[in-house]
Amino acid sequence: MGFPTANLEVSSLILPPNGVYSAVAKVKEEIYRVALNVGWRPTVASASPQLRVEAHLLGFSGQLYGRELELELGTRIRDEMRFASPAELRVQIERDVAAVRAAE
Ligand SMILES: Cc1cc2nc3c(=O)[nH]c(=O)nc-3n(C[C@H](O)[C@H](O)[C@H](O)COP(=O)(O)O)c2cc1C
Repeated sequence: MGFPTANLEVSSLILPPNGVYSAVAKVKEEIYRVALNVGWRPTVASASPQLRVEAHLLGFSGQLYGRELELELGTRIRDEMRFASPAELRVQIERDVAAVRAAE
């Protein structure tokens, strides 16, 4: 969808309520702003939906697979929602990213 995400392994963690958040991530010694989604991804059809925590790191390019990620949760942006199409979700994620940029 144009927003690559790190799919976090969170099975032993306490999670915030489902929704979209701004956050800050530390990868090695670098800091990135993050648009974070916690939820079931109701827009994505799946026979067995699973709770996911997905982090889109603004300005990051590269691989995060297997890396440890330190995340500091910021403000809550909105509830997770079901969109009629991936295109509509994409427009909303663009707004979420703008909200993350605006949240200092
Ligand atoms: C900032 C952000 C907000 C999201 N909001 C929603 C949402 O409201 N509803 C939803 O169904 N999925 C949401 N998603 C999850 C996307 O559906 C998911 O990242 C996308 O389908 C790509 O999935 P894939 O990595 O398995 O291809 C969000 C993801 C991000 C990064």
